[in-house]
Amino acid sequence: MPNQIKPHAACLIGWPAAHSRSPLIHHHWLRALGLDGGYSIESVPPEGFAEFILNLSKHGYIGGNITIPHKERVLKLTAPDQRARAVGAANTLWYDHGTLRATNTDIEGFIDNLDHSSDDWDHADDALVLGAGGASRAVVFGLLERGIKRIHLANRTIGRAQAIAHQFGARVLPLPWEDINSVLPRVGLLVNTTSLGMYGQPPLEVATERLPAEAVVADLVYVPLQTPLLAAARARGLRTADGLGMLLYQAVRGFELWFGQRPEVTPELRELLESDLTVA
Ligand code: ATR
Repeated sequence: MPNQIKPHAACLIGWPAAHSRSPLIHHHWLRALGLDGGYSIESVPPEGFAEFILNLSKHGYIGGNITIPHKERVLKLTAPDQRARAVGAANTLWYDHGTLRATNTDIEGFIDNLDHSSDDWDHADDALVLGAGGASRAVVFGLLERGIKRIHLANRTIGRAQAIAHQFGARVLPLPWEDINSVLPRVGLLVNTTSLGMYGQPPLEVATERLPAEAVVADLVYVPLQTPLLAAARARGLRTADGLGMLLYQAVRGFELWFGQRPEVTPELRELLESDLTVA
């Protein structure tokens, strides 16, 4: 049990304890709204995870976030909503009349960030999503829910894209990785959910000059904040949505569920996170 748990505290549960920006975000909102609450990091190994979740309130918490490697396993230990079940992973827990519920806020984090970055991104009939891991499933779910007609899903391992298409239906079209450039001229939205472009990883090579002038480019990677993909898109004058925006918007619902007030993603909060990313 951590020391100094505040009366209303949430936590981030992962293993091993990794550096996370979530405490910075939630502490900022608690301060900004004048609320008495806390947000801690709990490093819980796989063998202790079930006990910790089943006794979350006894450990002093009103809810929390879940990260690697527990995001899939938590579904069996909680009452997941439709979003968490569709994505196959949950990142946010809260008590609803004594029942520990689980949801996936990456979906709304992704969509809300796009909505704040451009007001007509959803006019696109065709979107191209790169990658077929857990983050991709959240993105695809959000795009389908929003009514995007066709989602081309490219992945190095095509079988993973086919599995997502099988789960979500005929509007998701698996695309071999080497065919990415051929669909670019008709996509109004390009999304990178792979780790390519992340600090220490190879860059993502996409011919952004083939995209239509009104296309929007989104990258889930936020270290670095400006990935080579976003830099190329901006150099062409395309609109972009970055991974930090998604990180901030996905945190809103958890805070609201735990502390009862809906916080705002302000320029001040973004600057705070940007300076933290610059230092790291
Ligand atoms: P997450 O749950 O965060 O989405 P993940 O399941 O590890 O993470 O998925 C990482 C994604 O990055 C996958 O789509 C992966 O492609 P594979 O399914 O073929 O592994 C993609 N990825 C990682 N390195 C890559 C590379 N060098 N080239 C192309 N895609 C890559």
